[in-house]
Amino acid sequence: MDEFTRANRNVWNEWTHINARSDLYRLEAFKAGEIKLNSLERDEVGDVSGKTLLHLQCHFGMDTLSWARLGALVTGVDFSEDAIALAKRLSEELKIPARFICSDIYALDEVLQEQFDIVYTSYGVLCWLPDIRRWAKIVADRVRPGGFFYIAEFHPFAQVFDETIDELIVRYPYFEKEMTKWQVEGSYADRDAYVESNFEYEWNHTLGEIVTALIEAGLTIDFLHEWPYSVYNQFPFLQPDGKGKWNPPETPSMIPYMFSLRAHKGIQETHSG
Ligand SMILES: C[S@@+](CC[C@H](N)C(=O)[O-])C[C@H]1O[C@@H](n2cnc3c(N)ncnc32)[C@H](O)[C@@H]1O
Repeated sequence: MDEFTRANRNVWNEWTHINARSDLYRLEAFKAGEIKLNSLERDEVGDVSGKTLLHLQCHFGMDTLSWARLGALVTGVDFSEDAIALAKRLSEELKIPARFICSDIYALDEVLQEQFDIVYTSYGVLCWLPDIRRWAKIVADRVRPGGFFYIAEFHPFAQVFDETIDELIVRYPYFEKEMTKWQVEGSYADRDAYVESNFEYEWNHTLGEIVTALIEAGLTIDFLHEWPYSVYNQFPFLQPDGKGKWNPPETPSMIPYMFSLRAHKGIQETHSG
């Protein structure tokens, strides 16, 4: 593990505890039975009952355990030891069967060889990954023939705008090749929380790079949807609708805030005669 991944892991270990007690994550409501998934991914992933589901970058497992509550046989993976320890505790406390594995996504092959009906990942995952083509290969390897990969993620184009002001002003490059070093200020769930780590490191991947990497890894794209709203208060001007959506003030929206994509792995044909 390189120094940047290690630094990010330290940040995520700290953020786990802050996020778990934050209003954003609503852990108590989840413990009381709430499903912590948005209607977007629930509708687009569809019925998961009886299906094996691998959740990549699962944080402390609330989404993973939500899929389990909906009937999936779940495995969650994350590189944060603290997140995985909390996910395991929640699984035990709530008596929701789940397997959680602590691993850097790029080392997943060393700890997990099986394939799954559904490989799932969501919201705030790709910016932590330096090599999107390697990631796509790892994803595709874990999908069983006939199964699919699904991602719901913040749109990379939305990342070019200044996140601190009340209008859309371009501040960052879309075609970013360099890693970005950010000063850590609290967590995204609690900006005022004390965090010991100083810096975190992120990479931007264009939509074209993401889609192309998945195709090159052998997956067939079923759909790529771009969404005019967010599920998170990414910008100060977004307004909550109280049902999990954050909408821009203008209609139609000027830009896409999120995308979702499903891609399947074809079943190998057997030739007879
Ligand atoms: C924004 S969170 C995912 C959020 C999830 N949708 C949620 O709200 O709970 C990103 C996760 O990626 C994990 N992560 C970042 N880099 C990773 C890596 N190289 N390998 C495995 N997990 C990683 C972090 O520990 C964190 O839990």
